[in-house]
Order: sequence, then structure tokens, then C-alpha cells
Amino acid sequence: MASQTAHKGLAEIREAAAYINTQAGVRPTIGMILGSGLGILADLVENPTTVSYDKIPHFPVSTVEGHAGELVIGEIKGKQVIIMKGRFHPYEGYGAETVSFPVRVMKELGVQTLIVTNAAGGVNMGFEVGDLMVISDHINMMFRNPLIGPNDNELGVRFPDMSEAYSKRLRALAHSVAAKQNFSLREGVYAGLLGPTYETPAEIRMMRTIGADAVGMSTVPEVIVARHAGIEVLGFSCISNMAAGILDQPLSHAEVMETTELVKAKFLNLVLGIVEEL
Ligand code: HPA
Repeated sequence: MASQTAHKGLAEIREAAAYINTQAGVRPTIGMILGSGLGILADLVENPTTVSYDKIPHFPVSTVEGHAGELVIGEIKGKQVIIMKGRFHPYEGYGAETVSFPVRVMKELGVQTLIVTNAAGGVNMGFEVGDLMVISDHINMMFRNPLIGPNDNELGVRFPDMSEAYSKRLRALAHSVAAKQNFSLREGVYAGLLGPTYETPAEIRMMRTIGADAVGMSTVPEVIVARHAGIEVLGFSCISNMAAGILDQPLSHAEVMETTELVKAKFLNLVLGIVEEL
């Protein structure tokens, strides 16, 4: 199993990228990280090369049910893509820098645009289960940052700007593709929490007060590293359940998986439509 130690540098990034390059013949420019139940998109890749995470030097290995652990590299709509089918989460015990290491490797491989997806609980009372939300911004409630430690200026600046973490240009594109597909895409702020417990109703009220529209346990570390690396980011949350305390029912991973199963066609079409226009 790959080592999980923190603060891998350029040498490790290059080793991982070099291994991936020996397996796949293409130079991907679009990266994707697919969350719980949304990995289906990877099955649409043409001329795919699949690289299992446990074969890649310095890559961590995923443990959660519903998350595979492989990279799929190939073409979608004539664009060269690299897809992470399954991601890493701080709740699995990985540090924020370990969780986001694959984004460094994507950058080294030539990725300029990153599409991140996740399943999230709806905090905004106007949302409904099954809605898709384009992420306008995030709140880092993990209180962990993958950039803590010495900064390598070759990778990015010491104090990265986060004022447009999620690209305005790509959000506008997402809305125009959704409109063509006749559905209204929600837009909102994603609060990333550590988990693995779902939130308490009191925590969800707090999330609403501080401006969150959805809550989840991923995405924030990867987006921070992507912005540090100068990658343009587009993010989507599938509202898989209403967050704790909104409906009078307990939350479960089974519900999250059921909802993503129901909306995956809508989600697939949206992402395919966007990739076509990138
Ligand atoms: N909270 C946190 N993470 C989640 C949720 C939730 O309600 N739903 C899916 N991921």
C-alpha cells in the first residue's frame, strides 16, 4: 500500500505522474474527481486506460464503500480527461495534503481545468433532494489546510487568493448547459466538514447562519490545492438528502447512495454537456 506520510514534494509528484504516463498515452487537460455514487461518468470514457491507485507511487488508497480506487484516463467528447473514480477524505484518517496529492499529480500531467463533484446535504430550505448545485464558493469547516507547512514556490504562492475559488466563467457555462437541458441548476456555498458523523441539527442551523447552502465531507482540500496550482475549478454537489433536523428522519449513507443513483443521468448529461463546450 502507498505510504500516507504528509508533505510529498515535487519529486514524489513527478514519480507518480511518470508512472501514470507510462500507462496512459494521452496528455489530459481536464481532471475530474467523482464523489459517492457519481463514478459512473468514468464508464463513458473512450479508449480508457485504468490505473489502480495502489499501483501509483505515493498515492493513498481509498477505503469507503461506494468509492472505487482508480484513475481512468482517456477521451470524453474528444477532450483528454483524467478521472479519479473515488477520492480520499480526511475522515478516513488522511491528512489534507494527502487527500489532495492527486490534484498535484494531475497538474503535473497537464490538467488545467478540474471538475469536482460530491454528494451533500441540503442546508438551504429552498433545495430539494435530487437537486444539482453548482458550487459558488466554500467554507472550510475542516479547519485543516493542505498548504500548511513549507511552501514550494514551484507549486504555487505562499498565500493563494481564494476570492474566485470556483470559476465564474465555468459556473456561467454550467448554467447555460443546464438551461439547454431544461433544468434549473441550483447555485450555492458548500461547507466542508470533517465527518464522519453527519451533523447535528444545531450544527446545521449554524451552517445556515454562516451562509452555507450545502454540507459535505470532501472537496475543500482538493480545491485549495487546485487553486494553489493555478487550475480553474468547477464544482457540483448532488443534494442527496436534506441536512440533519430539516426533515423528521435520520440520515444514512444508504439514502445518499439511493439519491445519487436516481440523479446520475441528469448529472452525467450536465457534465458531458460542459466538457463538450470546454
Ligand atoms: N452531511 C455531510 N455530508 C454529507 C451529507 C450530509 O448531510 N450528505 C451527503 N454527504
